[in-house]
Amino acid sequence: MTWKATVLTLFPEMFPGPLGLSLAGKALIEGLWSFEAIDIRDFATDKHRSVDDTPAGGGAGMVMRADVAAAAIDAAKVAAPAGSPAIYLSPRGTPLAQERVQALAKGPGVILLCGRFEGLDQRVLDARAIEEVSIGDYVLSGGDLAAQVLIDACVRLLPGVLGNDGTLAEESFAAGLLEYPHYTRPREWEGHAIPDVLLSGDHAKIAQWRREQAEALTKARRPDLWAKRGKS
Ligand code: ADE
Repeated sequence: MTWKATVLTLFPEMFPGPLGLSLAGKALIEGLWSFEAIDIRDFATDKHRSVDDTPAGGGAGMVMRADVAAAAIDAAKVAAPAGSPAIYLSPRGTPLAQERVQALAKGPGVILLCGRFEGLDQRVLDARAIEEVSIGDYVLSGGDLAAQVLIDACVRLLPGVLGNDGTLAEESFAAGLLEYPHYTRPREWEGHAIPDVLLSGDHAKIAQWRREQAEALTKARRPDLWAKRGKS
C-alpha cells in the first residue's frame, strides 16, 4: 500500500495544487504516494450546507461545527489506510519538526483536517483524539497551505522519490545542523571566488570544512538548535 494523504478541506480545488508539480507531482504520477481530498461541506446536514456557526460565549468569527467535522473525519478514517494519524493543522499545535515528518513518512499516511474560520469545536478534537500541529509561529488564513507543507515534507522522504542522489544520507549525517553553503560555476563571479578548499579535490578536507561551516551557521542563527544537539 502506498503512503496516502487524506485531506479534509472546504476548498478541495486547492489540492493537489503545487503538490501536483515538480518532485512531489512526478512521484504522485509514478504512484509513489496517493492523495484524496474530501470536501467537509459534503457532511453538512442542513439545506444551506453550513459547516460553521457563531462561537458559544460570543466573540468574533465563526467556529467549525463538531457534528460536521466529526462526520468528515469518520469518513476519512474509512478512506485512509489503517493506522493513519489524524492531524488538525492549527497555529496552536505542536510545532512541526523534521523528526515528526520522518515518523509520519514511515507510517501508512496521514489524515489532515484543514480549518478555516476562528477554529474548530474543541469537542471534536477531544472525542476523536486528533493531534494539533503547527507549521510555524504565524497565522495563515486556513490550514490548507499548512497541510500542503506537511505533505511535501513527508513525500520527499518516501522511498524512490528523491532517487539515489545522496541528499537524504547527507541530511541525516548533518541532523540538527543548518546546511553548509553551496557553490557552483563560474569559479569567479563579480570578484568573488569559490572557497579554495572546495576545488582541492581533498574529500576529507571538504567534509571537515562543510561541517565547520554548518556548525558556525547553526550557532549564529539557531542557538536553540545548537543547544539541543546531541540531547535527543
Ligand atoms: N492554520 C493557520 N495557521 C497555521 C499554522 N501556522 N500552522 C498550521 N496550521 C495553521
